[in-house]
Formats: sequence, C-alpha cells, structure tokens
Amino acid sequence: MVKNLRSPVAYAKMKGLMSYFSALIKERKALASDLMLKLVASPKMYRRFDSHGFLGPEEDGADTLCFRDASPEKVTAADFDYLKVIGTGSFGKVLLARHKESEKYYAVKVLQKHTILQRKEQRHIMCERSVLLRALHHPFLVRLHYCFQTGGKLYFVLDYASGGELFYHLQREHVFSEPRARFYAAEIASALGYLHGLDIIYRDLKLENVLLDRHGHILLTDFGLCKEGIDVEGRTGTFCGTPEYLSPEVLEQREYDRTTDWWALGVVLHEMLYGQPPFFSESRSRMLQNILHQPLFLGPGISKPARDLLHRLLEKDPEKRLQNLAELESHPFFSSINWTELVEKKVRPPFKPSLSGPVDLVHFDPEFTQLPVPPSLGVCEGSGLAFPGFSYTSENYPAVTSQPSQR
Ligand code: ADE
Repeated sequence: MVKNLRSPVAYAKMKGLMSYFSALIKERKALASDLMLKLVASPKMYRRFDSHGFLGPEEDGADTLCFRDASPEKVTAADFDYLKVIGTGSFGKVLLARHKESEKYYAVKVLQKHTILQRKEQRHIMCERSVLLRALHHPFLVRLHYCFQTGGKLYFVLDYASGGELFYHLQREHVFSEPRARFYAAEIASALGYLHGLDIIYRDLKLENVLLDRHGHILLTDFGLCKEGIDVEGRTGTFCGTPEYLSPEVLEQREYDRTTDWWALGVVLHEMLYGQPPFFSESRSRMLQNILHQPLFLGPGISKPARDLLHRLLEKDPEKRLQNLAELESHPFFSSINWTELVEKKVRPPFKPSLSGPVDLVHFDPEFTQLPVPPSLGVCEGSGLAFPGFSYTSENYPAVTSQPSQR
C-alpha cells in the first residue's frame, strides 16, 4: 500500500538507486520541476544576466517588492507571521503564514539562495523566461501573490491550500473510489490542458504536488518536495526524487513532449485506484526496468473504462499515448463529467476537508507541522547574494484573464 511504500523504511530501501538515474532525475528536476523557480526569471532579470552578472549587486536593497495583490508596494519578509511548517524539501521549506496587515493566510515557500547556487540551479532559474507568471491563472493552479528576497533567502507567497496534499489523504485512505478518483483526475487534467495550451509541459506531476483547497478542489503546485532524504540546508546535495512518475521517454533521455504529462496523470490515477504506482517494485532499479519494458498489468476491481483509460495514459510509446485534453474529455471514463461546469468549480467535490478554523492543520503531515519555525524568517537580513530582478510587478506581468485554448 501507499502507506508502506512511502514509509521511511521503504524509502530508505529504495535509496539504492543507480547513480545514472539519480543524475537523470536530478537533471530533469533542475530543468523544469519547479515552476515557481521559473517565475523568478523575469525579462528584467534576463536582461541583466549578461551585463551585471548573476551575482551582481542588488539595486533595490535587501528586501524587494513583488506584485499581484493591489499596488506594487514593498512587501517584505517582516510583513508576515510565520506560523507553521507545512512542507519541506531539498531547497527549503513551505510555511503557513499570515499577512500581518490584511490577516490573510498564505503558503510561503522559502528557498535558501546558497542551496540554489551550490546546486548550480541559478542558470535554470535565471534563463527560463517567465511568461509563465501572467499565464498561470487557472482555478486549479496555485497562484503566486508576492515574491521577495532577503540576503539569504527567496520567498514565494502562494495560495494556501488548507486541505493539504492529496498524497496525505490517499496515504490514510489507501485507495479512492472511482468517482472520487475521476473528479481529481478531471481537475488535474483540466489544469494540464490549460498549461499545454500555453506550451508549458508541467513535467512534475506527482501526488505530492496535488493539493486540496478548503472546498476539496484541486490546486496543482510545483513543490516537488520529498519527505525523506531531506537536506534542507543543502549540505549534501542528496537526491530525493522519485522515479515512479517518469515516463519511459524521459527515463531514456529521449525527446519528450506534453504527452509525458498524460503518462504522469496515468500514474496518479493508478495510485488513486490501486494504492500504488504502476510497475511498482520494492527494488527501484527493477521498477525502472518495469517502467521501460514491462507491459502494464492491471488488477481486478476497477471498471472497464478506468482500465481502458489507464492503458491509454500509460502507453509506453508517446505517439500511441492519449495526446490531448480533448481526447481525454471524450473518454468514457469521464462521460459523467461536465467539463464546463468542472472548470467553473460548479461540480461539487466528493470530499470536503473538515476544518475547525483557518489554521487547522489536521490535513498536514505532523512530520512537517512538528518542525520548528525558523525564527530568522521574518527578519530582513541585510546584504547577501542578490538575485537581481527576482521581483517584478503586475505592471510588467498583467494577469491573463481570458482562458487560452486548452488543446
Ligand atoms: N504545501 C506546499 N505548497 C502548499 C500550499 N500552497 N498550500 C498548502 N500546502 C502546501
């Protein structure tokens, strides 16, 4: 079951992955796994890249503003109370925070600059253009509200998804019913179709990146944060990725396209219906071999349309795989879904996270919430490594309000 699969022991066992695959996954993560990291590559930053050098002096002082909510006033780390850790990962932490003035709650992702620099990720951060910023406006995608930096850290202020990770719910319930899995798969697919319409391949779809809002709707985030093998300070460069969502073409380092996301959706759907990923083996290298070569085996207990859809998504040949959202929408597994109502959030979620209040963290793993909140977070440290152009304003990046073609 997922529970065992994700247990520390199972994870520890699975850590013996051959270095080839570690390097491959790491590279893939570096390339694209973190959409928020891409967001920091504003044109301003991009222009400065050559002339000032990446680590050139910061012009605006240590704390810089960002954008989105209201006027481009300065927003700083000290404007928030940091309440609890709700996620951790190789680059840093995610915290529940309250904006002091507005009393609004946000999830704040805090990244250590030196970790990014140590891992030589800055080129990816700096060079990927951030048209994404204005583009990422969809009901099932987490929104970025502000970003700013202090001497040592980058801050991303995001929607807070109080329902927690879908991963956490599945861990506890082991499997979801078909209607529930259908609803989540449909909302995820809708977000993927939106991204594909903008020529964005998400590339990092995994259960841990699928969050629930307080009503039970999906919010896709980019936090590919693993729970085990965490090296928050970035000392070891520990690989903590998981291969289970990687499509055969990505594993083999062949060219890949948006159908790699449909493969990952197949993995997520399989996990929801069977409680574990397809091609699963306790041995990681065996699992990788299975992904590449073993025909998909589907156990009993799911409907014929569900089986057929899994075969269409988990097709090893990307050309024969399901190609786009339109194909997915018309698949019999989704015949009960009204896609227009779905994207308008008019379809009632099958599960509503119970919450006693805005800071009820019952849907978050105590593994995170029991961690201490670093006292330095609200402190506007002075000079440090500057990420010039990290911040940007809504003037430069107006939000796209109309929905682009989804296909
Ligand atoms: N974990 C990672 N990102 C999150 C978010 N935006 N809201 C809640 N939990 C999260």
